[in-house]
Amino acid sequence: MTNQLVLPTEHTLTGTSVTFGSIAYGCWRFAGTSVNEATAKIETALQSGFTLIDTADVYGTTWPDGFGEAEALLGEVIAAQKSLRGEMILATKGGIVPGLPYNSTRDYLISACEASLSRLKTDVIDLYQIHRPDLLTPFEEVASALNDLLAAGKIRAAGVSNFTPAQTSALQKFMNRPLVSHQPEFSCLQTEPITDGVLDQAQESKMVAFAWSPLAGGQLITGIVESAGAADKIARLIPVLDRIAHENSCDRAAVALAFLLAHPARVVPIVGTQNLERIKASASALAVKMTRRDWYDILEASNGAPMP
Ligand SMILES: NC(=O)c1ccc[n+]([C@@H]2O[C@H](COP(=O)([O-])OP(=O)(O)OC[C@H]3O[C@@H](n4cnc5c(N)ncnc54)[C@H](OP(=O)(O)O)[C@@H]3O)[C@@H](O)[C@H]2O)c1
Repeated sequence: MTNQLVLPTEHTLTGTSVTFGSIAYGCWRFAGTSVNEATAKIETALQSGFTLIDTADVYGTTWPDGFGEAEALLGEVIAAQKSLRGEMILATKGGIVPGLPYNSTRDYLISACEASLSRLKTDVIDLYQIHRPDLLTPFEEVASALNDLLAAGKIRAAGVSNFTPAQTSALQKFMNRPLVSHQPEFSCLQTEPITDGVLDQAQESKMVAFAWSPLAGGQLITGIVESAGAADKIARLIPVLDRIAHENSCDRAAVALAFLLAHPARVVPIVGTQNLERIKASASALAVKMTRRDWYDILEASNGAPMP
C-alpha cells in the first residue's frame, strides 16, 4: 500500500470523444499583446500538454470595455496558424454582460455563442460554459439555448462555471445531453469546492472539474495578499508548500497545482501565467510525489486547524 496520491493524465468530456491533458491554459490575462506573442503562449501551452485552452467572451485588457478582446486575439492566433485549432480543445464562456451583470436568456446566449464563434474564427466550440448563473432566467430556458447550440453543432459540449450543485442539477433536468463540466474557483487558498458539493457532484456525474485561479491569482507565489482576510492563511500555507516543494525539487507553484490534481474529482487546474517559462514549469506539477499526509497538511494549513 502506498500513501502517494495518483495524479490524472488525461480527461474526456462525458458523451463525447473530446480528450485533453490534465492541466489547462487560461486566457483571462491574455489580451493586449501582439499576435506573435500570443501565439508563443498558445504553442508553449500545447507543447506542455495543456491542450484545453479556456477563455471567455468577457475577457479583455480592461473592464468593461475589453469585452471580446481575448477571444479576438485567440481568433487571430488561430487564423494565422490554422493547424493550431486542430491541436487544441477550445473552451469559452458566455453569460456575463457588463452592467447587467448576467444574461442567460435563450436569445442572448445563442447570439453570444455565435459572436464567440466569429471572434474565435472557428466553426465549433468544443466546450461552451455558462460563466455565472443568471438568477433571473429559468433553467428550462437556459437549457433550451444549450440544447439548440448542441443540436446545431455549434458547440460539442456544455458546462457551467460558478454554479452551485443545486443550480447545476436544476439545469441538467432540462438538458438533452449531460452537462460535462464545472468550473469553480479552487486553490489551496480557496478550498470551498471540497465541501460545498461541487467536487462531489463532479464525481457523481462524471463532470470535469476545472479550477480557476489555481494559484489564487498568484497570491500563493508572490505572498502579496489581495483577497480580504487571506493574510494568515497565506502565511500558514507558504511554509507547508515550500517544504513539499523542497522534498520534490520543484517550485511552490507545482505543489499548489498538485494539491488540486490529487483530489479524487481529478481536478484540471487552469493555469493563468503569461510568462513562457512559467507556463512550461507548471507541467512539473504532474511529477510531484504528494502523499496523503502532505495533502492533508496543506488543507489543515488552509483551514488553520487540524482535521477533526
Ligand atoms: N470561470 C471564472 O469565473 C474564472 C475567473 C477567473 C479566471 N478563470 C480562468 O482561470 C484562468 C487562470 O486564472 P488566473 O490567471 O487567476 O490563475 P493563477 O494561475 O491563479 O494566477 C496567475 C497569476 O499568477 C501570477 N504568477 C506569479 N508567479 C507565478 C508562478 N511562479 N507561476 C505561475 N503564475 C505566477 C501570474 O503572473 P505572470 O503572468 O507574470 O506569470 C498571473 O498574474 C484564467 O485564465 C481563466 O481561464 C475563470
